[in-house]
Amino acid sequence: MLNFDFYAPARILFGKDEEKRAGELLKPHAKKVLLHYGGGSIKKSGLYDAVAASLKANGVAFAELGGVKPNPRLSLVHEGIALCKKENADLILAVGGGSVIDSAKAIAMGVYYDGDIWDVYEEGKSIEKALPVAVILTIPAAGSESSGDTVITNEEKQLKYGYGSPRLRPLLSIMNPELFFTLPENQLANGAADMMSHVFERYFTSTTHTDLTDGLCEAVLKTLMKNALLAKKDMKDYDAWSELGFAGTVAHNGLVGMGRRQDWACHNMEHELSAVYDVAHGAGLAVLTPGWMQYVYKDNMGMFVQFAVNVMGVEGSYRDSEAIIQEGVARLRDFFNKMGLPATLSELGIGEDRLEEMAKKATGEAFGRESPIGGLKKLYWQDVLNIYRLVK
Ligand code: NZQ
Ligand code: ZN
Repeated sequence: MLNFDFYAPARILFGKDEEKRAGELLKPHAKKVLLHYGGGSIKKSGLYDAVAASLKANGVAFAELGGVKPNPRLSLVHEGIALCKKENADLILAVGGGSVIDSAKAIAMGVYYDGDIWDVYEEGKSIEKALPVAVILTIPAAGSESSGDTVITNEEKQLKYGYGSPRLRPLLSIMNPELFFTLPENQLANGAADMMSHVFERYFTSTTHTDLTDGLCEAVLKTLMKNALLAKKDMKDYDAWSELGFAGTVAHNGLVGMGRRQDWACHNMEHELSAVYDVAHGAGLAVLTPGWMQYVYKDNMGMFVQFAVNVMGVEGSYRDSEAIIQEGVARLRDFFNKMGLPATLSELGIGEDRLEEMAKKATGEAFGRESPIGGLKKLYWQDVLNIYRLVK
């Protein structure tokens, strides 16, 4: 196990009707809130009205900015920064999924940042200060409700970069699984693939003596698969959504990765797909992950046997590791298929023409500073291109 520093203070308020407490919970922290949301699902579901009523009842004034798109755009972040300054907002309430929360975090930093907030994403500059962000989560997926991370798309440059700071951990996150009932099936599937990937990125490691986190990762993965299938059968299954919501937070609050060398190659490769083709993050991960496994497993066969046996339930002779691993990957593909997720880049509308460009951007080669990605196996741009081509 490697040395680590674990500090993950995110208050999660879980359960039915918790969103109705938004005003009461925020009153001690804010006089004026920026209510930030997406393309309209919260208006259709009635959540917007419930939150607005709760803020009003508690005397918390608010300005609002909707219109966050999946793969949240820098231009709206700029608008949000200007609006927060004009309105003197002292807290941002993100009501939505990862895109809304990440946009809120970008605005929260931008209010205090002297210059274009994109610099922080592009150059990794450290930030001194950010407005507090509170969350009402409407989709279990990105884990942004408990992470200190934000991922923003610069639509002009066709770049999608992440940035992390402990200052960006939400002040509090409300998670009522009933709010997930209105999700379309494809968003359930995308979310499941993303939450699983957050565990995979930590689980597949060459670090040894990681019994506790191995077991936590395996439990989270099995919980996600079991309950994603249950929720797909009945999109109003409160218990299944509860498990997914809690597992999604545990998958990405940092705990399951402590003391382990982490990987993150699939996320890096996927962000290029989303930046150029605007595909859903989870769908991109579902395509790339089995291909990545095929490409890297020989570098740590034991880890992949453990995954096949402990997570995917493969039985067989331990003398035949190759067959066990192949069956494990096949079962993962089968799970993604049952969830209705794509298996190839062409299903995402991605052809050969820009694969090399994306591979070179993923490792920095395109900017003259190649630095290989991946913790389990170092991947250079040619490797990334090989993986893209494996899942064409
Ligand atoms: O915009 P609205 O109308 O609200 O519709 C959204 C959106 O179209 C819809 N939706 C959300 N909740 C709903 C709902 N529709 C009906 N009922 C509900 N209850 O779902 C669509 C997708 O929303 P989005 O916020 O984009 O989903 P997700 O949570 O998957 O977030 C994806 C973003 O998070 C980033 C991804 O890169 C991507 O940009 N990530 C952020 C991370 C972080 N900050 O820690 C880590 C992740 O690895 C990830 O990279
Ligand atoms: Zn992700």
